[in-house]
Amino acid sequence: MAQASSYDERYAGQGYYWGTKPSAICHQVLQLIPPDRAVSLLDIGCGEGRNAVFFAHSGYGVTAFDESAEGVAKTERLAKAVQVPISVFQADMNEHRLEQDFGILFSTGVFHLIPRNLRQEVFTHFKRRTTAGGLNVFSLFVRKPFIGKAPDSDPGAEPWLSGELLTLYHDWRIEYCAEEVFDCMSGGIPHQHAVNRMIARKP
Ligand SMILES: C[S@@+](CC[C@H](N)C(=O)[O-])C[C@H]1O[C@@H](n2cnc3c(N)ncnc32)[C@H](O)[C@@H]1O
Repeated sequence: MAQASSYDERYAGQGYYWGTKPSAICHQVLQLIPPDRAVSLLDIGCGEGRNAVFFAHSGYGVTAFDESAEGVAKTERLAKAVQVPISVFQADMNEHRLEQDFGILFSTGVFHLIPRNLRQEVFTHFKRRTTAGGLNVFSLFVRKPFIGKAPDSDPGAEPWLSGELLTLYHDWRIEYCAEEVFDCMSGGIPHQHAVNRMIARKP
């Protein structure tokens, strides 16, 4: 039986902890591989579904998973409200291995929870499960000595180092890569995050 996630409590209320607006990077995906033909997309650690449902509404064939049962239920609820088809399931990204290829693998704010010693293996798998010409679109937290721990930070989190993700994609075309510091109000307390956003295309 799946274990309870530390996110279940945050997702248990009626409201959406992360809101329902998609991340800014979603719009870049629309430009790089528009859904004017069948394009499969996987959202890894979809939370309450804000990005997965945006993609489904835009016409992608969306599959999404999260460790949190509440997150999965919220994602299904949001998809139903917007009346879009979406396939959602509960899984742990550190253990679950994909059984099909996707045109786009997408994830925001989750990969700090992949232990450093598993990263090589997990990303080799993600790359293998991407179709030729497809994209990996990832946004992850990076460690900066001048940014403190977020008040709602995850126990066991291992933020990435600048450039760490890029090295894993040295053999793919980098369509976009940027590091940014932004203000955040999650949990109701103002704080900052440093993120690395990268879009890489499989040759
Ligand atoms: C900061 S939230 C981001 C949610 C969503 N990607 C978004 O941008 O709205 C991190 C998410 O990662 C999920 N998560 C944490 N560990 C996970 C794991 N091992 N496998 C899958 N999902 C996980 C949590 O349940 C949570 O929904």
